[in-house]
Amino acid sequence: MTRPILIAPSILSADFARLGEEVRAIDVQGCDWVHVDVMDGHFVPNITMGPMVVAAIRPHTAKVLDVHLMIAPCDPYLEPFAKAGADIITVHAEAGPHLDRSLQRIRGLGKKAGASITPATPESAIEHVLERLDLVLVMTVNPGFGGQSFIPAMADKIRRVRDMIGDRPIHLEVDGGITVETAAIAAKAGADVLVAGSAVFRGKRVGDYGGNIADLRDSAAAARKL
Ligand code: DX5
Ligand code: ZN
Repeated sequence: MTRPILIAPSILSADFARLGEEVRAIDVQGCDWVHVDVMDGHFVPNITMGPMVVAAIRPHTAKVLDVHLMIAPCDPYLEPFAKAGADIITVHAEAGPHLDRSLQRIRGLGKKAGASITPATPESAIEHVLERLDLVLVMTVNPGFGGQSFIPAMADKIRRVRDMIGDRPIHLEVDGGITVETAAIAAKAGADVLVAGSAVFRGKRVGDYGGNIADLRDSAAAARKL
């Protein structure tokens, strides 16, 4: 099944002092989803935002709030993020011993469930939970910070996850170091959702989020046809 390419700007690279405005800007300028990076200073070496921030931005967009939890443990926070208005909640396979349970909880809260794997984690980590997934997130950098470079070895992993997903209705999302160039690599390998922080908010077209989003989408769509 070929899904349309979706662009999910990460608000990690937005101006936090004007977050509502920034979310409205990417919304009206053509983003598909809004990607929210939640970091705890424990699972990853950085701290960002929690459920209160998700609740605060919720009224600013009707688009999908794609919440990426880089936190451990994650289970105690699934309900707060669901109540705050997340549409998709993604947890890390490495964040705890009971990924299957976390995914069941997310769906039990009426939300779409995602599982993410960091660069060193093999795709087999999610092989036995595919039936519980709406999304697989392949990290293409080590999570923690925006502005890092795409790890080339991840192209092969994206291909393997694509094969593993087969015909199941599961999105394959990539996150980290996505630029016009790497968007093409990821899309060609089988990704259908591209997260981009720096490339949208601090991209080549300065201040033109819509132009940056369109460039990523065009590059990915063209690469698929090659
Ligand atoms: C990294 C985050 C990413 C990050 C992407 O831990 O999960 O979403 O913000 O930022 P860029 O696109 O700048 O690599
Ligand atoms: Zn992310």
